[in-house]
Amino acid sequence: MPTQYSVAGNVATIRLDNSPVNGLGHSTRVGILADLRRALESPEVDAVVLTGRGEFFSAGADITEFGTPNAAAEPSLQTVIDAFDAADKPVIAAIDGICFGGGLELALGAHFRVATADSRIALPEVTLGLVPGAGGTQRLPRVVDLETAIDMIVHGNPQTVRRLADLPGQRLLDLVVDDDAVGAASQFARQVTGVQHLPRIRDLAAPDNGAVTEAARKQLHQRSRGSLAPLAALDLLEKATTLPFAEGLDTERRTFAALVAGEQSAALRHAFFAERAARTIPGLPRGIRSRVVETVGVIGAGTMGGGIAMNFLDAGIPVTLVESKSESLDRGIQVIRRNYQLQVDKGKLDAAALQQRMDLLTPTLDYVDIADCDLVIEAVFEDMDVKRDVFAAVDATAKPGAILASNTSTLDIDAIAAITSRPGDVVGMHFFSPANVMTLLEVVRGKETTDDVLVAAMETGRRVGKIGVVSGVCDGFIGNRMLARYQAAAKVVLNAGATPAQIDDAIENFGLAMGPFRMADLAGNDIGWAIRKRRYAEQPESPRDAISDALCELGRFGQKTGGGWYDYEAGSRVALPSPTVDSLLASFRASRDTALQTFEPDEIVQRLIFALVDEGARILEEGIASRASDIDVVYMSGYGFPRHRGGPMFYADTVGLDTVLTALRRVAPPGWEPASLLVRLAREGGTFSR
Ligand code: NAI
Repeated sequence: MPTQYSVAGNVATIRLDNSPVNGLGHSTRVGILADLRRALESPEVDAVVLTGRGEFFSAGADITEFGTPNAAAEPSLQTVIDAFDAADKPVIAAIDGICFGGGLELALGAHFRVATADSRIALPEVTLGLVPGAGGTQRLPRVVDLETAIDMIVHGNPQTVRRLADLPGQRLLDLVVDDDAVGAASQFARQVTGVQHLPRIRDLAAPDNGAVTEAARKQLHQRSRGSLAPLAALDLLEKATTLPFAEGLDTERRTFAALVAGEQSAALRHAFFAERAARTIPGLPRGIRSRVVETVGVIGAGTMGGGIAMNFLDAGIPVTLVESKSESLDRGIQVIRRNYQLQVDKGKLDAAALQQRMDLLTPTLDYVDIADCDLVIEAVFEDMDVKRDVFAAVDATAKPGAILASNTSTLDIDAIAAITSRPGDVVGMHFFSPANVMTLLEVVRGKETTDDVLVAAMETGRRVGKIGVVSGVCDGFIGNRMLARYQAAAKVVLNAGATPAQIDDAIENFGLAMGPFRMADLAGNDIGWAIRKRRYAEQPESPRDAISDALCELGRFGQKTGGGWYDYEAGSRVALPSPTVDSLLASFRASRDTALQTFEPDEIVQRLIFALVDEGARILEEGIASRASDIDVVYMSGYGFPRHRGGPMFYADTVGLDTVLTALRRVAPPGWEPASLLVRLAREGGTFSR
């Protein structure tokens, strides 16, 4: 049974018991309602305590139920809450642990709430493209201040009970205890037994504060990048302050119904399930045990090595950091300390925690010091000769069974593995910059990588808060290989007459965090230039990116040099149109007799995004990625692709693969062939992931 009913003295307890998270699926709703009716009909019961089990009061709706008949089947959550609301015996929610989404709405429908201070409370529906659908938007602003309600409902941020209990004027919590919420609630129940007028949140007024709502709306318009749910949530909060409760509730119900049926929520639910799916590696025999990782060595204390080390220090895992020169080591350590100090200055870390992290760090110039490390991650210069020396040294010193990882972004993991006497222990762990901030981790599976090493790389990533995706070996792995196609498409549009700003604006209005040219200026145009120059030397036949080369020859490396595709005023990151770039483009186009075209934003988006899709399809058919959803995860977590569009492959499915293919063919140069998987799926009316 998903609920348990018991009576002690004159108090009935309804305990949600639906593992793993006390989700409020149909059978649970049926159980709660039946238990409540039983309690209300029992003459010996004077009060009811509603509680959860283990770490969960309830994590909310069962999202696997969305879109199935069970989701709409009565009793709905609203019906259950209405029954609490109408109860003539006091109902006390006893919250201990996670109380999210529908779980909180249920608790808000009770007459009283008793909670342990460490419990966490949230209405995170916006993260799935939804709003709370069972009264959350109307009840919460009646019991906490509007700023807190906005933070929780519009931004989906969780709060601890400890913090909420301290809010001036809050009426959410009637009693906060350190432990034994049920015991405290039962005692509380006895005190309120027989109370004449049971308090109901619906009867309270939500204080109006138009200035706060307006400020939040303005901020959302700037930041939401086309995402509908946060704005809808804010509108509903406003309704709570202006409309009678029943009308607000009705509007909430209609808004929820529209959002749950829409593309954005489907995309965000896809994103949620895609991240979950990425954790399992298809084709591995069952029961593979991860190798144990308790100590980590990082080779190279540069941009990436320092950030990588911080991930482990943050997780309490000791790190030995190896450099070749003491100046580089000192500089690397200083950067790590400075980054932590910035967190202290912002109040995100205390001084003791900073010191704890620095104490876990052992800087060294001697490879012997990594002899005991369980995992060694190399992050030295992107040069095969340097990597060869490093892996030979690591092979000679690391203990048997240690995992040897490389953070290379372009070099062949199989070639790196072959340097060592233990290629099965070698794996790619491709972090993204800044490595202590970005959540994506591509785990690159070499042809010899053993299963337990692969599992260990994924699990270690997860332990330090990364979203791991397994990639096969190829130039650029999943993300950067697709990025190259996207950038090439951007250059085609640029060369044919669009400005960098037109292209960036189109892509940003589509929802990406940054367009390709603003992104390049931020990352530094010199990085790609160095890679291209090496490629031109090694493969003289390879295609040139002449316009980018010309830009770099002018020393326009981006923000750091005050100019790139845009101009930047000293100390500013604001990209300004550049007359220098305009004239560079004009003479470039003239020298090639380019027939100038004008591009609508939709055309720009199609060209760039569909280039991603075509390359993604190739990556999929070659088995570099094992699922289309893995590609979506890479793009959403590493490249700023809007979650409300579900990643490039999911987006292609929503547009229709036939449309994608037609658009690609229309602009393709002679002789170009689309990915055969795309052609086949388009012909069959199939999709990548739906
Ligand atoms: P970096 O130039 O900032 O740092 C490299 C560090 O390695 C330097 O501090 C250097 O002194 C040290 N080093 C060189 N030879 C060494 C040796 N034999 N033993 C010990 N230390 C040695 O380079 P960055 O950007 O940190 O890149 C490192 C690796 O990470 C490269 O393989 C790069 O492709 C990869 N990567 C870089 C990303 C980025 O955005 N910068 C993103 C993802 C991967």
